[in-house]
Amino acid sequence: MAIPDTLLLGPGPCNISDSVRGALAQPLLGHLDPRFLEIMESTKSQLREVFRTKNKVTFPISATGSAGMEFLLVNFLEAGDKIVVGVNGVFGGRIAALAEKLGAEVIRVEQEWGRAVDTEGFCNTVRQESPKIAALVSGETSTGVYQPMDGVGEACRETGALFFVDCVTSLAGMPVEIDAWGADIVFSGTQKCIGVPPGLAPVTVSEKAIAVYRNRSKPTPSFYFDLDAILAYVDGEGGRSYHHTAPISMVYALDAGLNEILAEGLEARWTRHARAADYLRSEMEAFGFQSLVPEGERLNPLTTLRLPQGFDEAARRSALLVKHRIEVGAGLGPLAGKIWRIGLMANNAQESSVDRLVEALKSELG
Ligand SMILES: Cc1ncc(COP(=O)(O)O)c(C=O)c1O
Repeated sequence: MAIPDTLLLGPGPCNISDSVRGALAQPLLGHLDPRFLEIMESTKSQLREVFRTKNKVTFPISATGSAGMEFLLVNFLEAGDKIVVGVNGVFGGRIAALAEKLGAEVIRVEQEWGRAVDTEGFCNTVRQESPKIAALVSGETSTGVYQPMDGVGEACRETGALFFVDCVTSLAGMPVEIDAWGADIVFSGTQKCIGVPPGLAPVTVSEKAIAVYRNRSKPTPSFYFDLDAILAYVDGEGGRSYHHTAPISMVYALDAGLNEILAEGLEARWTRHARAADYLRSEMEAFGFQSLVPEGERLNPLTTLRLPQGFDEAARRSALLVKHRIEVGAGLGPLAGKIWRIGLMANNAQESSVDRLVEALKSELG
């Protein structure tokens, strides 16, 4: 099998580093082998640093980001519970839709696509409704918005709500401060700014959330996502028992990716992502692309740009992919045909990625 190398500048996955590729190629170990369990422990401890949390319950769910979302909702929300969800794009909408499937009463705090959810309005709704969970998406990948979190942790503390955060696209690319935000139940994915293939969903859960879980009226209605059953394997205390076969190579890869992040330094990495995104926006303006999102609400790892007038976006995207081996993302939902989504994530967050894209566009546009 020979897959051509493609520069992945879409909404994820992004390209992986040599060290992550090397980790994937390491020999397999058994999932209860002490040498593998040591790597799992290292992964958990590095995840705490990247999430900026002291939460003991911090580990990767063995499936993609959406499984992290489902794991959290299925364990911490029961039929009839109330959840307040900020909806300003596809992923807030997905949280709301999944909560509805689980029989929860869902209160949506809507915002136009391309703008951050108004935190004051969101906090007021949390105070009025006193929900079990209040959910926000930190980096809305469908619109390129980075969500401010001001006052939300406080409103949740006052009302006893669990503060749920989706940081799939922001983690390791922009500030994510789980303990400082007062977030309780949080998930991410590996294929964005962590720079690892898709396949794991890092999660972190506060003590307050564990107490809520202990108080469930009925057991979690899932085998694969049952928190206690998973902890019996991923938590070292009292021995480990089999729950599912951990995806060994992906855990190696995640450990290697996290190692790189911490060696670079989180702040330095956030700055690198910010610089690359600024450079992209200024270079693309020359072609007539305009930022969808106002300054101050932009998600640096994923930039959304309105297309120039009369621009045949599908044909141009296809030419970039087929002739130049560069992937960029299309708009979703109401933004389909109106924007491009350009990801500069992990090692792709460099001026050289932008230069390649600009050269390819120049050769296409003549
Ligand atoms: C913000 C956000 N949440 C959740 C998901 C779902 O993750 P996955 O596609 O890995 O299941 C994504 C994926 O792009 C995302 O961008």
